[in-house]
Amino acid sequence: MTLIFNGEQLAKRKALKLKAKVLAYQAKEIQPKIAAVFFKEDQASALYTTLKKQSAEALGIAYQAKAFSFADSVKVIQNYLDDLNQDPSITGIIIQKPWTKKWLEAVPGGDFASWWFGLVSHIATKESHGVNKDVDGLAPATLAAIKAGTWMEQGMVLPATARAVLSILKDYREQVDHDFSYLTEKILIIGQSDLLGKPLYWHIKKLMEKGASIPATFGEACQIALDEAQNSNKKCEVKLVGKQGLEDIIEQRKSLKDFRVIISATGKKNLLHGDLLAPHSILIDVGEPQGDIDLPSCLNRADFITPVPGGVGPMTVVSLMANALDLLKGVV
Ligand SMILES: NC(=O)c1ccc[n+]([C@@H]2O[C@H](COP(=O)([O-])OP(=O)(O)OC[C@H]3O[C@@H](n4cnc5c(N)ncnc54)[C@H](OP(=O)(O)O)[C@@H]3O)[C@@H](O)[C@H]2O)c1
Repeated sequence: MTLIFNGEQLAKRKALKLKAKVLAYQAKEIQPKIAAVFFKEDQASALYTTLKKQSAEALGIAYQAKAFSFADSVKVIQNYLDDLNQDPSITGIIIQKPWTKKWLEAVPGGDFASWWFGLVSHIATKESHGVNKDVDGLAPATLAAIKAGTWMEQGMVLPATARAVLSILKDYREQVDHDFSYLTEKILIIGQSDLLGKPLYWHIKKLMEKGASIPATFGEACQIALDEAQNSNKKCEVKLVGKQGLEDIIEQRKSLKDFRVIISATGKKNLLHGDLLAPHSILIDVGEPQGDIDLPSCLNRADFITPVPGGVGPMTVVSLMANALDLLKGVV
């Protein structure tokens, strides 16, 4: 039987715990406040901003959002970010990343990567401003620290989507299969963006390399059972691929059955069909607005699957809130 994950339910359970933490901070006269920047041409970016604002306010986290246009100069947005960086009431800043496709429709022939770097590198980090406001873990300094495996000791947070995936796997282990540990599994991550694929790959690879030596105390995303890693006979592996890499694996191995855990974040509807996947697989579908995984063909084949919608999405929202509270650890 395939267990279909309920992201709304787990997000609600997490939110209850976060609410208690917000109250504890407020009792100490510390008010978490997120400032969001989004782009009005990208409807998804505006929708996610609304959902995050609602979720934050329900928890007692203040959330202000400002819309920009793709036509606005980078300088204008950077000036706004500078104001947020200097404002002591703002404890976290998120730039809601628009779809590359949408941006290119508005800026034909433009260099999306440079434009994005110009913005996200302007968010305050400890190094640049003495305080870390990078609540979505996407600033270049944060990504570099995740790659180096030093983000925890530097008081940084993982990108919310990566944290959401780790929380889902942790919950699967706690609720369903206590023997599951990705330190004993072969894992394939499809989609190599900064939002999910790369940071998740770097983090899991470090966990696999270092085993139990990773501290499990900073942030829920890191409270992962590491103990079996030392004694396991199974060989663990994590692989990160994009379009070409996926095609190569399928051509060479004829399927993806070598991998028990597949995390897919491409946005390509029904990219993965049940026939390609191993029995008893664990499937995390990050694709939006439609899933990457053809759910009906995986039923009664996979052990676990996250649906779209209602899977990773709600967990990403609550993970951003958890990140906002983790950043406060640096100020108390
Ligand atoms: N649920 C959530 O909370 C959440 C959060 C963030 C994003 N998302 C969703 O995740 C998806 C990806 O977003 P993103 O920002 O990471 O996109 P992105 O930056 O455009 O990256 C897409 C990635 O998918 C890969 N890809 C595209 N087509 C592929 C194919 N046919 N086979 C294998 N790989 C393929 C690309 O490979 P190459 O590197 O080879 O180009 C690239 O690495 C979108 O659907 C987005 O909506 C969901």
